[in-house]
Amino acid sequence: MINIVLFGKPGAGKGTQAEFLKEKYNLTHLSTGDIFRFNMKNNTPLGVEAKSYIDRGDLVPDELTTNMLIAEVEKHQDTDGFLFDGYPRTLSQSEALDRFLATKNQEITATIALEADDEILVKRLLERGKTSGRIDDQDEEKIRNRYQEYNEKTAPLINYYKDQQKFHAVNGIGTITEITERLSNVIENL
Ligand code: AP5
Repeated sequence: MINIVLFGKPGAGKGTQAEFLKEKYNLTHLSTGDIFRFNMKNNTPLGVEAKSYIDRGDLVPDELTTNMLIAEVEKHQDTDGFLFDGYPRTLSQSEALDRFLATKNQEITATIALEADDEILVKRLLERGKTSGRIDDQDEEKIRNRYQEYNEKTAPLINYYKDQQKFHAVNGIGTITEITERLSNVIENL
């Protein structure tokens, strides 16, 4: 069983790469952003609560996010492993995930970060915002706020995983195929 955290700033390509990696390595892909968007689309109580944070580009509170993530993990106990995309994003979430996995005699195998400069990523998200309908992609102020949230709350996780010797970084600039190969090299050497 391997459990991989796909890590990176907004727009780094986590969701894009997860689509390829989940097929290649037979992993269950869990994207907290996708789960929130599904709930927002269906107007569930979780979706309504999350929307007020997501539309501003703020992180959703930890407890709500962690309870949702754990419920999803519980649904897939027959899997060969998980590909976590967009979770954890705070130290509290990392610790909660580690505690939860320990109850299943499991752990995070590796955290792999897709690295790219903010300015390239902001352009990607503004471009996507023209067609995606994602409110958090539609103006630069909200996008910049997502980077501020990342810098304040998510970037500290790099040291959390480095201290456990579980952190790997790959260049997130290139073609989608090139980046899949870089990620695959890391996974196959774990
Ligand atoms: P989430 O959906 O996770 O959004 P994000 O991390 O901000 O970023 P994206 O999904 O936009 O980027 P990505 O890295 O997946 O890149 P993608 O492949 O899409 O979260 C949304 C919100 O939900 C958060 O802001 C927060 O409010 C809330 N939330 C989610 N998880 C949470 C948590 N754990 N705690 C609290 N709140 C949480 O690609 C981006 C674009 O780039 C696409 O258009 C793609 O086609 C393009 N692209 C991809 N790869 C390349 C490439 N190699 N070259 C050129 N373009 C590329």
